[in-house]
Amino acid sequence: MNITFCCTDTKAEPWLAGLHAALPDASVEVWQPGSPQADYAVVWAPPQQFLDEQPRLKALFNIGAGVDALLQLKLPPATRVVRLDDAGMSVQMAEYVCHAVIRHFREFDGYEADVSQGKWSFRKPRSRIDFPVGVLGLGVLGERVAQALRVFEFPVHGWSRSPKTLEGVVCHNGPDRLDSFLGQCRVLVNLLPLTPETSDILNRRTLSLLKPGGYLINVARGAHLVEADLIELLDRGHLAGATLDVFRTEPLPASHPFWQHPGIRITPHTSARTLRTESIAQIVGKIAALERGEPVAGVVDPARGY
Ligand code: NAP
Ligand code: GLV
Repeated sequence: MNITFCCTDTKAEPWLAGLHAALPDASVEVWQPGSPQADYAVVWAPPQQFLDEQPRLKALFNIGAGVDALLQLKLPPATRVVRLDDAGMSVQMAEYVCHAVIRHFREFDGYEADVSQGKWSFRKPRSRIDFPVGVLGLGVLGERVAQALRVFEFPVHGWSRSPKTLEGVVCHNGPDRLDSFLGQCRVLVNLLPLTPETSDILNRRTLSLLKPGGYLINVARGAHLVEADLIELLDRGHLAGATLDVFRTEPLPASHPFWQHPGIRITPHTSARTLRTESIAQIVGKIAALERGEPVAGVVDPARGY
């Protein structure tokens, strides 16, 4: 079996070593123009030339959950695209989002500012009933995040394409229910895939539907958010703040207003990192299943976009 590795911005050696260790009989090589046809590929942001030169892959394993960049390319029509299916990401996403929600709800930024000035002062306790959290996207990551928020007893709503039943979560689905979902939330967490249907979904109109004092946490993709609209709503006071992990341009340009905005907390696309050991174990398990002719989870539907 031949496995080709083509991951931009990723150190190849540890991946090759891990794949070799798990599949000692397989040949695992870094792709170069002109490399022979492989059976499987492990990719992140490959060039179009890679896909053009590998038309008969049995599967293309994306070492991330989001496949929006990959689906911009012309893919070999018979090749399955398989995304990472949790592989240690959902717990990271749950801790990131809970941290952001709790930091905002408990006003820890305000306490930090007070303490830095030597002030011993209290704020009035807030009621979590007044902070219903909405999770856009109830997939692998969104479901875990919604469940983690329930542990802290926030009222939790979720929105997905298809109907869902999740214990303790008020589930909404479909474009017709988006506005009523948003109207019931004060904190909004975005965990949608980036598709033509979800691009720019966080905009002046939709964010204005959040309850006054709304708070945005975007951990999915930068292109979900119309950035100027967020700044306008923060400056107008309809939104109280935002925690952003993803941006339309990454790295975030030095001149971008988000760096300095007092209401915005940023992190550098780090909310749920790809974990190499877990990812290799998942990919190797899926290769074995495919070789036995069994179905695997995480196969992307290119028509749906995720
Ligand atoms: P997923 O399992 O594919 O779940 C996607 C969810 O979004 C599903 O519940 C789906 O509904 C819903 N959805 C998709 N299109 C929709 C639409 N038009 N209307 C309503 N709901 C829609 O994805 P995931 O693994 O949870 O990951 C979500 C995204 O997180 C990824 O695509 C990626 O962009 C981002 N991400 C970011 C980081 C980071 O570090 N910042 C890390 C990993 C992933 P159905 O359930 O009905 O299909
Ligand atoms: C990261 O953003 C991913 O999609 O895995």
